[in-house]
Amino acid sequence: MIGLARKRPTLIGIDISSTSVKMVELSRTGTGYRVEGYSVEPLPGSAVQEKTIQDVDAVGQAIKSAHKRLGTSNKLCALAVPSSAVITKVITMPAGLKPDEMEGQVQLEADQYIPFALEEVNLDFEIIGPAPKNPDLVEVLLSASRSENVEMRVAAAEMAGLNTKVMDVEAYAIEHAYPLLADQATELDRDALVAVIDVGATMTAINILHKQNLIYTREQTFGGKQLTEDIMRRFGLSYDEAGRNKKEGGLPDSYVPEVLEPFKDVMAQQVARLLQFFYAASTHTQVDQIILAGGCAAIPGVDEQIESRVGTLTRVGNAFSKMSLHPRVNPRRLGSDAPALMIACGLAMRSFD
Ligand SMILES: Nc1ncnc2c1ncn2[C@@H]1O[C@H](COP(=O)(O)OP(=O)(O)OP(=O)(O)O)[C@@H](O)[C@H]1O
Ligand SMILES: [Mg+2]
Repeated sequence: MIGLARKRPTLIGIDISSTSVKMVELSRTGTGYRVEGYSVEPLPGSAVQEKTIQDVDAVGQAIKSAHKRLGTSNKLCALAVPSSAVITKVITMPAGLKPDEMEGQVQLEADQYIPFALEEVNLDFEIIGPAPKNPDLVEVLLSASRSENVEMRVAAAEMAGLNTKVMDVEAYAIEHAYPLLADQATELDRDALVAVIDVGATMTAINILHKQNLIYTREQTFGGKQLTEDIMRRFGLSYDEAGRNKKEGGLPDSYVPEVLEPFKDVMAQQVARLLQFFYAASTHTQVDQIILAGGCAAIPGVDEQIESRVGTLTRVGNAFSKMSLHPRVNPRRLGSDAPALMIACGLAMRSFD
C-alpha cells in the first residue's frame, strides 16, 4: 500500500538583527526550492543593540507584523543566536553510544569546557564523524550559549504566536545557505576556501568555509549605520531621513564622491582586516573567493572595490538565484534584498535537514 505522503511542515527562517526582523519561507520543489515569501519589518532603534535584545515586546511586535505580511498559516520557526554569543568546542567521545547515552556523557563533560554555570547555559551538540586518528572515538561539536539569549528570542517569537522549533547559530545559518551560493557562482568550486562576509548595520561577520564546512568565524562592530551617521552629519538630516535617502537616492551630488566613496573604502579596509585575522589564526594564506552578504553588499560597486583592494574575486551573494518564486514575490526586489536575507534563508533551509 502506498502511504499518504504527509508533507513535513516547513520552518519560517527568522533573523532578528539590530535594525529589522527578516523572515523567509521556502518550500521544496522537485529538485530545488521555491521562495513562498519573505518580509522585512524595521525595529525601533533601541530594541536590539549589537545583537542583544533589549526590548522583547518591540521585537515581538515586529515579528508579528512581519509574519502577518508574510501571509502564511505556518507558525513554526527557526531562529538563531549571534555567533559571538556562542562558545563552541570540538571534543571526542566514545563511538557507538546511543543518543541518550551520548547526551548524558556530553552533559557530564561539558562543564570542563564551558566558562559559565551550566544552569545558565543552553547546551547543544552535533556528531561530526569518526575521529581522524582513532576509530573508537567520534568528534562532537559542542555549542553553548547563555540561556538568556535563547530565551528572549523564543519569548519574542511566542508573543507573535510562533513556535520555535530550531535555535541555530548565525554562522551555521550561513553554512546552511552556502551550497545555494555555490550554485549561484558557476565558476566556484564547491570545495573551495571561501569567505562569506556579512556587513550589516552595526556588525560585520566573517565566516570561512572550506569544503562547504564552517571553519572560522569572527565578528566586529562595523556597518552601514556608520554611513547613515556620516550622511546625517554632512547633510543635516535625521537618522530616518538619512537611512531612507541612502537606499532610495535623493542626496546632493557631493554625496557619492565625499561620503559614499570614502565609506566603501573603509568597508574594503574592514574586509581586508578580517581576512588578516583569519590568516593569522590559520595555516591558509589565501581564500579563493569572497561572497558579500548583509545590507551593505547592496551598495553599488562595493564588490569591485573590495576585489581590487584585496586581490580576491568578490561576488554579491544571492542564495535565491536558482529558486523558483511564488507569484507574489517580486523578483527584482528579492534580488536587491537577497544579500541581507542570507541568515534568514539559511534558517529556512533547516526545514529540509
Ligand atoms: N542599497 C543600499 N545602499 C546602501 N546601504 C544599504 C542599502 N541597502 C541596505 N543598506 C544598509 O544596510 C544596512 C542593513 O543591513 P542588514 O539588514 O544586513 O543589517 P542588520 O542585519 O539589521 O544589522 P546587524 O547584522 O548589524 O544586526 C543598513 O545600514 C542599510 O542602510
Ligand atoms: Mg545582520
